[in-house]
Amino acid sequence: MTAHNLTLVFEDGTSIRVTANEGETVYQAAARQNVPIQTDCREGACATCRAICLSGSFELDDFSDDALTPEEEAEGGVLACRMKPHSDCVVDFPYAASLIDVDAAGPVRGTVTEVSEAARDVWRLRIRPEAPVAFLPGQYLNITVPGQDAQRSYSFASLPGEEELEFFVRRLEGGAMTGWLSGDPTGEETQLGAPLGQFYLRRPGGRIVLVAGGTGLAPMLSILGELARGEEKPEAVTLLYGTNTPDERFGAERLAELAETLPLEVRTIAVEGEERTGFVTDLFDAELIGEQTDVYLCGPPPMIDAARAWLSEAGHPASRTFAEKFLES
Ligand SMILES: Cc1cc2nc3c(=O)[nH]c(=O)nc-3n(C[C@H](O)[C@H](O)[C@H](O)COP(=O)(O)OP(=O)(O)OC[C@H]3O[C@@H](n4cnc5c(N)ncnc54)[C@H](O)[C@@H]3O)c2cc1C
Ligand code: FES
Repeated sequence: MTAHNLTLVFEDGTSIRVTANEGETVYQAAARQNVPIQTDCREGACATCRAICLSGSFELDDFSDDALTPEEEAEGGVLACRMKPHSDCVVDFPYAASLIDVDAAGPVRGTVTEVSEAARDVWRLRIRPEAPVAFLPGQYLNITVPGQDAQRSYSFASLPGEEELEFFVRRLEGGAMTGWLSGDPTGEETQLGAPLGQFYLRRPGGRIVLVAGGTGLAPMLSILGELARGEEKPEAVTLLYGTNTPDERFGAERLAELAETLPLEVRTIAVEGEERTGFVTDLFDAELIGEQTDVYLCGPPPMIDAARAWLSEAGHPASRTFAEKFLES
């Protein structure tokens, strides 16, 4: 059987060699050799396994445009769960090699301690895990909806090391998670998957721009909390926060507290219901970005695509843009 040498390169400079049999995906080959690269859906839908192929030939099985846009594919973007090498390949993953250990943590059980209304159509959900969950600010995990064969992804709004985990969950008509939370499951148990995702705080220094749409604010609260308690403070942080209506905004108190410790400026906009209306990308301004600026985007896929297009047009390096799309389950 033909086998190809794969060199998996990580953000911290680590490289790991594995071999892939013809017809095997990069994910399958790596897993077979005990290298659990980050994956979630394993069917080309979520982008958690996104990487760049630096050299070699391969084919990509079917995948969603939301997980990998045609522009990203044209620039060498691949999904490790869909990529079948046809030659030796070098694949570059945009996260540190230390992150590939998280799967070893496995799922843990957690007890719901609070479900409350944080804003219109947004719940605050707090869960006490039975064992510590080690995550990086910005990451997400999958929560099982008890009694249903359904798992849903939510970004941590709490900080690593806190006893309880906090999430902000959007109400969606007829939804599985929505149905469970509507019945106030405080005191009930659920299962929590391992922390996942390439979206996490990179360098705390320099200038940082956070762009959040709707409940996309959740991971930004975790990132901001980490920046506030860290020794190295950023030069400036600007949060651009868009919602459909002003009453869908949450986290105002927490943001005000964070602004006491951080050089934080918050700009908000709503699609309707106030004097200045529009999309969050209308808050962009060329003066915000520069070579040393890290931009974090989180929210609905169209918002991320529009923001990426604006940043690319403005000449911001793609390597300094980090994004999490809140894809449909
Ligand atoms: C990495 C990641 C992190 C996420 N983090 C968060 C988070 O912190 N907070 C949060 O509120 N959501 C988050 N999401 C979205 C979330 O996982 C689910 O999509 C959503 O909460 C499902 O809710 P539900 O079970 O009530 O509805 P479902 O049973 O999944 O669906 C009910 C209806 O809503 C539609 N729908 C489902 N998901 C979406 C969506 N994302 N946008 C628009 N329509 C949708 C479905 O098509 C269906 O018609 C995240 C998604 C991803 C991929
Ligand atoms: S794991 Fe979801 S796209 Fe590969």
